[in-house]
Amino acid sequence: MGEPRALRFWNTTLGKKAVMAVSGVVLAGFVIGHLLGNLQIFLGPDRFNGYSRSLRQLPALVWSVRVLLLVMVILHIWSSLELAVTKSEARPVGYAKWKPTSSTYASRTMYMTGPIIAAFVVYHLMQFTFGVGGTPFEENDVYGNVIAGFRVPAVSGFYILAMGLLCLHLRHGLWSLFQTLGFYHPRYTPRLKTAATVAALIIFLGFISIPVAVLAGVIPQIL
Ligand code: HEM
Repeated sequence: MGEPRALRFWNTTLGKKAVMAVSGVVLAGFVIGHLLGNLQIFLGPDRFNGYSRSLRQLPALVWSVRVLLLVMVILHIWSSLELAVTKSEARPVGYAKWKPTSSTYASRTMYMTGPIIAAFVVYHLMQFTFGVGGTPFEENDVYGNVIAGFRVPAVSGFYILAMGLLCLHLRHGLWSLFQTLGFYHPRYTPRLKTAATVAALIIFLGFISIPVAVLAGVIPQIL
């Protein structure tokens, strides 16, 4: 009896790229949903804390999403490491003089932005979920926690930097997805690249609007 089909597929470069693409799409879906949830901070403390409370009243949903995200993060990192090994096995001795041709700045930095984003998520969970991030934390006041956290310029600066790297990562990820799907068309390919850049830029601006608004004193509103 041979290897199961799923394992045979995983053992191909295309299989690993597919796992990376599917897990990346699920994670990006969470990022977009989380952004939409976070933007409710502009609607005031009652709305934002109410949103957080209503999620906590659905523990089955929250825990299913957490388990799904964890599995996706593991698969995303695992497939990226396997692909890196495959690449280095294909060229065990590095180029004597390496000059990038078709790769973009973002594609070359995927292996740098990825671990920084992972480190950001760990700090982010420490800060807003576990309350051990070094900024004021009140279990049932998510609104206050975000405002207090972003009032610290170094914290806001770190978030803005991390969001920039995340969006660079997302832009290239989206672009790689089209390539993995085998999509190439002389007219539409450049448009897809532009669409990936615009989508990443919108996500970036959406996220950073929160620390920027806190630092600028736009939120909390003084009524
Ligand atoms: C300005 C940017 C962001 C703000 C203000 C923000 C805010 C928050 C807050 C307040 C929580 C805790 C929610 C609660 O306990 O009810 C949270 C949880 C979380 N955030 Fe963010 N977030 C931001 C960006 C991000 C980004 C970019 C990612 C992923 C790359 C992310 C991933 C998560 C995760 C995984 C959780 C834990 C969810 C859970 O409890 O299972 N966040 N965020």
